[in-house]
Amino acid sequence: MVSIRHLWSLSALLPASLCAKYELTLTKSYALQVSDGTNVVVDNSAILSGRQNSTVSAINRNTSHDLAFSFISPTVAKITLKTSDSFNGARFTTAPNTLFYGVWEYPFNDRIDNKNVSYELKGVGNNVGVNWSNARAPFFITSAGYGVYTDTLKMGSYDFTTPGQAQFIFNSSSIVYYIILPKTDSPYKSIIEQYTALSARSEMPPISGLGPTFWSDDFTLDFHGSVSNAQDNIQDVVDHLYYNQIRATSTFADRPYGTGNRSWGNFDFDPKQYPDPGGFIKNLTAYGFDVQVWIANRASANTNLSQNTMLWNASIENGWFFDNYNPLGALGPALNLSIPTAYKYFKEHLNYFPSVGVKGYKIDRGEEGEMPDYVQNEQMTLFLQMAHDTMVEKWGPSKFYNFARSAVDRSRAVTHIWNGDSYADFTGLAYSVASGIRSGLISFGIWGSDTGGYARPGALTPTEEVWARWMWFSAFSPVYELMLGTNHTPWYPPYNQTTVEVMKTTANLHAELTPYIISYAHQAHRTGIPIIRALFLEAPDDNRTWAVNDQYFFGEHFLVAPIVTSGGSRSVYFPHGNTNKYLNYFQKKEVHDAGTTHNISNLPITASPVYVPQGAIIPRGDIYQGNAKWIKDWRPSLTIEIFPSVERGEVRFQYFVGENARRNVSELKMTLYNGLFAKTMRLEYDDLGVEATALVWHKDGSKEVTLNRGAGIVEVEFNETLF
Ligand SMILES: *[C@@H]1O[C@H](CO)[C@@H](O)[C@H](O)[C@H]1NC(C)=O
Ligand SMILES: *[C@@H]1O[C@H](CO)[C@@H](O)[C@H](O)[C@H]1NC(C)=O
Ligand SMILES: *[C@@H]1O[C@H](CO)[C@@H](O)[C@H](O)[C@H]1NC(C)=O
Ligand SMILES: *[C@@H]1O[C@H](CO)[C@@H](O)[C@H](O)[C@H]1NC(C)=O
Ligand SMILES: *[C@@H]1O[C@H](CO)[C@@H](O)[C@H](O)[C@H]1NC(C)=O
Ligand SMILES: *[C@@H]1O[C@H](CO)[C@@H](O)[C@H](O)[C@H]1NC(C)=O
Ligand SMILES: *[C@@H]1O[C@H](CO)[C@@H](O)[C@H](O)[C@H]1NC(C)=O
Ligand SMILES: *[C@@H]1O[C@H](CO)[C@@H](O)[C@H](O)[C@H]1NC(C)=O
Ligand SMILES: *[C@@H]1O[C@H](CO)[C@@H](O)[C@H](O)[C@H]1NC(C)=O
Ligand SMILES: *[C@@H]1O[C@H](CO)[C@@H](O)[C@H](O)[C@H]1NC(C)=O
Ligand SMILES: *[C@@H]1O[C@H](CO)[C@@H](O)[C@H](O)[C@H]1NC(C)=O
Ligand SMILES: *[C@@H]1O[C@H](CO)[C@@H](O)[C@H](O)[C@H]1NC(C)=O
Repeated sequence: MVSIRHLWSLSALLPASLCAKYELTLTKSYALQVSDGTNVVVDNSAILSGRQNSTVSAINRNTSHDLAFSFISPTVAKITLKTSDSFNGARFTTAPNTLFYGVWEYPFNDRIDNKNVSYELKGVGNNVGVNWSNARAPFFITSAGYGVYTDTLKMGSYDFTTPGQAQFIFNSSSIVYYIILPKTDSPYKSIIEQYTALSARSEMPPISGLGPTFWSDDFTLDFHGSVSNAQDNIQDVVDHLYYNQIRATSTFADRPYGTGNRSWGNFDFDPKQYPDPGGFIKNLTAYGFDVQVWIANRASANTNLSQNTMLWNASIENGWFFDNYNPLGALGPALNLSIPTAYKYFKEHLNYFPSVGVKGYKIDRGEEGEMPDYVQNEQMTLFLQMAHDTMVEKWGPSKFYNFARSAVDRSRAVTHIWNGDSYADFTGLAYSVASGIRSGLISFGIWGSDTGGYARPGALTPTEEVWARWMWFSAFSPVYELMLGTNHTPWYPPYNQTTVEVMKTTANLHAELTPYIISYAHQAHRTGIPIIRALFLEAPDDNRTWAVNDQYFFGEHFLVAPIVTSGGSRSVYFPHGNTNKYLNYFQKKEVHDAGTTHNISNLPITASPVYVPQGAIIPRGDIYQGNAKWIKDWRPSLTIEIFPSVERGEVRFQYFVGENARRNVSELKMTLYNGLFAKTMRLEYDDLGVEATALVWHKDGSKEVTLNRGAGIVEVEFNETLF
């Protein structure tokens, strides 16, 4: 029998209009089946309902229910179910070796798929490798060739423990879910694209949000030299970055920074630590740093009543707290933001932060038992919206950077993500790489991890080696953010110049790759297709990519294989996608065939395995000054690196020019002509916003040619390609 997945690959090669029309039918046994006219391609084998989530059963014609189903586009079917029971769901059945992806950012068992996972659609809490890696979406993709999205903020659970089966149940007497089929010859990308069109797409971040961002978990500790408060401590970081010429675009104050018990609830900066917050933030902005602060939907009581915070007092007076959730516990309860007055009060007071120049929030918690679990998704969605609105009202869209650890899919329109509290060791790094890939699969495209890990119990935790490997990973992450301070600052003992040098190399590389990264951030914003891509998004027909948990495509033109174990060794698999060969990006000699595996050993911490496919186009350069005030008469510069190959004669890149440009996407189109005596690379380009350089790599080195302002065409001749 021909496998279902195989059939999908065939049909996916054809434009949708040429494909057989999909049909959706309800069988006598109450299964919903999608067929392409010949084969059943989706088997929604049961529709579930029950009084409890533990007692659901398949509905049949005797169950009281209301079921409607139809295709709302050629490749998306919508199913609406209402019953008289409180819990409703669905089961999908596939071949036993099928894999399921999505739902959670957290990589259970260090895997990018959900093999043997059963969990609720909520924050995962403390776990191996990363605590609180909590982005989530009621959406899965299967290697059987389709996706399923349930449009809800209700609590639910997903169960993948039975091989060849996916099941979900929501605490709701009505649900709406969508079966999403591939639409283009990039089947999985097109499923994600259609899913985000139904759910939400990421807001476009500002360049400053991509980092490098340097922050401390507690700027009120670990003073050096003449530093005597948090404000001076941040200044000390700013100065060291300047003198070391390490690029940065932002910084943030995690708590504590305010007054009140737990430093939160009076919407202020502690004057002992920040004598002049407005003046200080203004200065930081002038040095090229955007400033963010920590916030959470949470309040703490004080045993001394007269020291209670505004947020605590107002919530007690008005009955805004969730009852019996940590009322006096170590972290305090959350406000019920479904109460309009609570929401309004909180929002009005948050406005203080943008009023003194703060350009974004690090949004913590919401999944720590401060409210009933079954409202986590609804409450976090409200809080993220509120936080977004206070910023957007002051600065306008895309002019600030908010990032949360607990977010449900619809909130990706109002917040970006960091992956929670990762462990400062290789396990934490490996899990962070897998969580980055998973974050992409649920379309939280703008993502970063605490470089070096979050919990740092001892001296030299992370070790120099762990930290350096993680810095390389962050260089090739959408966001480079690095926690220093509290006795873990690279330029202070016990670290030394080795760590400072790797930090400088990687932070400056990330800054240099900004033109590339921001272009893919814009693609994520427009289409939902993430920047960190599971290998199968780019190589859907290569089934050896399905279980690779520690490699990814970074955009379309980088293949990244971070070192996630001690000793600098690993094997790299080169996927069979739209390239036959890969080139070592840094060394520019070593070439690998697609479909092969390469073993790396003893790679020093000053290097990292990164490859480019045939025909790669990499825009890089210095398009955002940030803190680089050491550069006199700074002007933007842009270089388009090109790696032509005969086997891939035409490649395009959608370059993001900038918010303020007349057209914000410019196309670069590279064509290779294979002549009798030489090869000619032709580059056609739209206006790139600055005068740029094309840097064309070939066997004997590279050639440069100027790309003038405005649209144009250039040609470069050479004898042999690198591939
Ligand atoms: C039912 O809900 C409880 C509480 O939310 C949860 O712990 C459990 O995993 C759920 N069970 C199933 C089968 O979904
Ligand atoms: C529906 O109810 C009828 C009458 O009780 C019964 O004969 C039949 O088997 C039931 N059908 C299903 C599918 O349970
Ligand atoms: C699946 O998970 C359960 C519970 O965590 C575990 O007991 C079982 O061994 C796992 N099965 C497989 C096949 O991994
Ligand atoms: C801001 O910078 C100016 C000039 O360096 C300095 O005099 C002033 O003290 C700074 N203000 C704050 C609040 O840091
Ligand atoms: C601060 O709040 C926590 C609970 O959030 C409580 O345990 C602690 O006693 C409080 N501190 C004071 C000084 O009241
Ligand atoms: C409670 O706090 C107030 C205001 O800070 C202070 O004046 C008072 O001494 C405190 N009371 C006790 C018992 O510590
Ligand atoms: C909170 O209420 C107490 C009285 O219970 C009062 O003494 C205190 O000043 C209030 N806190 C603020 C910040 O207003
Ligand atoms: C389902 O939601 C209701 C509120 O609508 C809540 O009372 C109940 O505890 C929830 N059940 C589960 C298992 O989460
Ligand atoms: C994760 O949580 C556990 C249990 O509370 C704790 O011991 C550990 O330090 C935490 N790790 C991180 C990285 O926060
Ligand atoms: C930095 O410290 C590491 C140990 O953590 C050591 O291996 C290395 O040699 C030191 N480098 C310098 C330049 O001191
Ligand atoms: C990949 O496909 C080949 C050919 O269909 C098959 O033999 C192999 O078992 C598959 N491997 C995986 C990991 O699915
Ligand atoms: C090709 O190689 C020949 C011989 O080395 C050399 O003379 C010629 O300049 C090269 N052509 C190009 C376009 O680089």
